[in-house]
Amino acid sequence: MKVIRVKDYQELGKKAAAIIIEHVKAKPDAVLGLATGSTPQTTYRELIRDHKENGTSYRQVTTVNLDEYIGLSPEDPNSYHYFMKKELFEAIDIASENTHLPNGEAADLEAECRRYDDLIRSVGGIDLQLLGIGRNGHIGFNEPGTSFQTRTHVVELAEDTRKANARFFPSLDAVPTSAITMGIQNILESKRILLLASGPAKAEAMARLLNQREITEAFPASCLHLHDDVTVIADEAALSLVD
Ligand code: PGA
Repeated sequence: MKVIRVKDYQELGKKAAAIIIEHVKAKPDAVLGLATGSTPQTTYRELIRDHKENGTSYRQVTTVNLDEYIGLSPEDPNSYHYFMKKELFEAIDIASENTHLPNGEAADLEAECRRYDDLIRSVGGIDLQLLGIGRNGHIGFNEPGTSFQTRTHVVELAEDTRKANARFFPSLDAVPTSAITMGIQNILESKRILLLASGPAKAEAMARLLNQREITEAFPASCLHLHDDVTVIADEAALSLVD
């Protein structure tokens, strides 16, 4: 696991975007695994800036996102479909049919999970997967206790996760209680993984990941020690408790 230390959230976005851009230039039909949340926002802004200034093209790129809330429509401003459209997709030249997220409104959620696994396989697997990390160590919505063998599945969201995400909703009650997420196995099958962490709220999780290095399903991000091409980009605040 390689760790890149950056000064702050802005630098984090620049560094992560530079790695993604380099990847897309080397492989114009790359499959990018994308994430939502606050952490990747500066990265997406840098990708948009570079697209406008330097013309990096995403015309042949395919994206698969980690997760989506159950019960929110793609038009709901709190859905991850909406987030991706506003934060990235509508500002670059990616074809909307090449952008994929789980369907949180599927009538048969089990069938939707299998469809998503098949989709990831059919595009040849993920070349570069972007990840944030939850305060409890979750990656995607794989909460503590999730088996490392899981593929796309339905999860009940941990209370801590719902509280952390309540800032986007009118109240805690409005935060969905469940989601569809890629599983740990899907994530570990990505060829390369980029984990981003910013701010003091992530310091304890980063210390557990980088100091203790214990591999346990109680701390989902620890599965990344099993992968041989992981780059962590974190700012000084997120690394403040790391030895
Ligand atoms: P955040 O979420 O980027 O909004 O902190 C990260 C996560 O929970 O995976």
